[in-house]
Amino acid sequence: MSAQAPIRRITAPQIRARKGGEPIVSLTSYHAHTAKIVDKYADFILVGDSLGMVMHGMDSTIGVPLDLMIMHGKAVVRGTERALVVVDMPFGTYEESPQMAFRNAAKIMKETACGAVKLEGGARMADTIRFLSERGIPVMAHIGLTPQSVNTMGGFKVQGRDEAAWQVHIDDALAVSQAGAFALVVEGVVEELANRITAAVEIPTIGIGASKHCDGQILVLEDMLGLNPRVPKFVKIYGDLGPAIERAVAEYASEVKTRDFPGEDQVYR
Ligand code: KIV
Repeated sequence: MSAQAPIRRITAPQIRARKGGEPIVSLTSYHAHTAKIVDKYADFILVGDSLGMVMHGMDSTIGVPLDLMIMHGKAVVRGTERALVVVDMPFGTYEESPQMAFRNAAKIMKETACGAVKLEGGARMADTIRFLSERGIPVMAHIGLTPQSVNTMGGFKVQGRDEAAWQVHIDDALAVSQAGAFALVVEGVVEELANRITAAVEIPTIGIGASKHCDGQILVLEDMLGLNPRVPKFVKIYGDLGPAIERAVAEYASEVKTRDFPGEDQVYR
C-alpha cells in the first residue's frame, strides 16, 4: 500500500465555499506546460475561448470551434493535478437550448475530464445554468463585458459607465447565482458596479478588469506575460517575455547563419 495520499483536485463546490474568504487565484492556460506551472499557484485554471485570439490570431472569440476547446482542455488537464480546470463553452454551442448546452457541456467534460464549464450571459442563460447544474455539470457564469457578444455590444467595451445600466448587471448576477452557478466571472465593469455585484450574490465573483473588490481575480496568462500584442489597458505585465523570446530567437538565427551553431551539444547520442 502506498504511504502517499493521492493529490486531489480542487472542486467546484470548494471554489463556491470561498465566497468572502481567502481570495481565489486563477489564470487562463491553453497548454500542458504552462498549465503545470500555473497549477502550483492557481485555485482554478480556465481554458478560455480567448485562445482563439491569443493563440490562433482570430479577431474575436466568435469563430472558436468546440473541438479546439476540447483539444486545449485535454492538454491542460494532462499538465495539471491540483487546480480545478474549467473549460469555456464556445459561441454557438449552448445558447439555443438547455438541451443543446447539456449535450455539448457533457462532451467537453467526458473528453477533457475537466471539472466545470463556463458560459457567457446573465438572466437569459439562467434556465440553462439550472438545467446543467441539476444534471451534474458545474457551471461558472460570465457577465459584464462578454466577448462572445462583441457584435451586439459594438466592440469590447467597459460596461456600467452609465449608472442607469447597473441594475441590469446586478439582476444578471442574481439570476445566474440563483440558478446554481458556482462562481461568476465579472469582466470589464466599473469599480463600484463590481463592488455592488460582489455584495449582492452568494457565489464568488472573479474579476477581470473589474477592480480588487471581487472574491478572486483572473488574467489571461499571455497578457500578463507580455505575449499578447493586443493586451488590454488594465493588465499589469508581470513578466515581459516577448523581448526575451525575441532575443533568444535572434541569437539562434545568428548562430545558424554564421555556422557558429553549438554542434556538439545539438546531436543526439
Ligand atoms: O476566454 C477567456 O479567457 C475568459 C477570461 C477572460 C475570463 O473568458
